[in-house]
Amino acid sequence: MAKRFLAALHDTTLFVQEWLCNPQRTGAVAPSSPKLAAAMAHWLPSDPESFVLELGPGTGAVTTALLKRGLREDRLVAIERNPKMAAVLHERFPRAHIITGDAWQMDTLLREHAEEIHSVGAVISSLPLMNFPSAQAAALAHKIGDVLKPEGKFVQYSYHLGRPADRRIDHLHPIASNIVWLNFPPARVSVYQK
Ligand SMILES: C[S@@+](CC[C@H](N)C(=O)[O-])C[C@H]1O[C@@H](n2cnc3c(N)ncnc32)[C@H](O)[C@@H]1O
Repeated sequence: MAKRFLAALHDTTLFVQEWLCNPQRTGAVAPSSPKLAAAMAHWLPSDPESFVLELGPGTGAVTTALLKRGLREDRLVAIERNPKMAAVLHERFPRAHIITGDAWQMDTLLREHAEEIHSVGAVISSLPLMNFPSAQAAALAHKIGDVLKPEGKFVQYSYHLGRPADRRIDHLHPIASNIVWLNFPPARVSVYQK
């Protein structure tokens, strides 16, 4: 109990520090709530052999939910740009493929760090996509489409609760979209299928 409290305090402190240094890139002042993380993990592929790519894992709130829902740690590939957060992930998830780098370079990074992984069953993203220009977000969405298996899912949350058609993801089919109120701030989880 005390250990869990200390870990939560450590993670929130790290988020606040990193947010103060770079709010646009950090994208949040605190890790996601267990409710939001579970809503993301709900979309794990059913095939236990499938790899899952997590983008922007931070200190591992969503990662923990993915493993709790049954993802094998060695089937998780996570790309985190912030080296301090990546160090936390390495320590907490030693069997996962944790890559310190830029999600926009995912094709190169996957080739260099995980050459046996050619496609994934799901991409679970917490990247603050709305903070990036449309063209940049569209380029990322295309790379995600390329790495997904047929019928693979792309799951993304956003603090923008409205539901405008997201023209940056027009090559994937929207299949679900729900608001998770028990998070600070509330977030919308959107799911797309290849
Ligand atoms: C909103 S936080 C989410 C963290 C965690 N998944 C959670 O839900 O608590 C966004 C994360 O994306 C990371 N990030 C931002 N830009 C990135 C990029 N270009 N490539 C990889 N990670 C990035 C940030 O460092 C941060 O950890």
